[in-house]
Amino acid sequence: MDKESIYDTTIKQLLSQNLNTEEKTKLYTDWSSTYELNLKQFGYAANSKCSEVLCKYYPENRDNIVMLDVGAGTGLLAEELASKGFKTIDGLDPSPGMLKEAEKKKLYRNLFCSYFTSKSLPFFKQDSFDLLAVVGSFGTGHIPYDAIIEMIRITKQGGIICISNRRSPFYESPDYVDRFFPLCDRLEKEGKWKKEEITTYNGFMENADGIIIVYRVS
Ligand SMILES: C[S@@+](CC[C@H](N)C(=O)[O-])C[C@H]1O[C@@H](n2cnc3c(N)ncnc32)[C@H](O)[C@@H]1O
Repeated sequence: MDKESIYDTTIKQLLSQNLNTEEKTKLYTDWSSTYELNLKQFGYAANSKCSEVLCKYYPENRDNIVMLDVGAGTGLLAEELASKGFKTIDGLDPSPGMLKEAEKKKLYRNLFCSYFTSKSLPFFKQDSFDLLAVVGSFGTGHIPYDAIIEMIRITKQGGIICISNRRSPFYESPDYVDRFFPLCDRLEKEGKWKKEEITTYNGFMENADGIIIVYRVS
């Protein structure tokens, strides 16, 4: 399929409000075997950007870090981070097809097939992870805005939550506008976490700006 067709049949649908969450999860599974190849054609840089940022926060002792990749997809982040010395990476994604691709990389300690929402996940104890990363998985019909509450619960005090995403959903999607950033601020006022940085950049992928959001759990 050429780039234009992939955009119309898949990427545009995943960004739209035409499909519900379950339909999007199925579309990811249908797309999983060519996902990486196709996103390369669109210059998808969100994982390398995330890795660059995380290496700044963890200049050394990366092999001691226990982390969770939420919305792990086919495992592009693990690929980036394993090459930088991160060794203990768990992954979670609701799409069995995407996870099957991630499993092939043999870089994840555990893979969980599940949605991440604001609901408490029974298989993650409080304070389980030093680092939680989410790449490209906030968007209409994807991870809900209030899932950050559960992200904080399972991240250790002093741990980092890093979101590397397309910028637009946070400013344009009704799922996030007037919800996501106000909740981030409220959680900071309540002493749950503290902002490290919110940075926007050009080149999340072709024709899309990116955003890096980093908080430290208090
Ligand atoms: C654009 S892909 C990004 C995958 C990977 N992080 C990457 O950068 O290649 C978005 C992923 O989010 C997953 N996803 C959607 N809703 C989710 C949810 N509620 N919890 C966790 N993952 C979700 C999808 O299954 C899909 O694999």
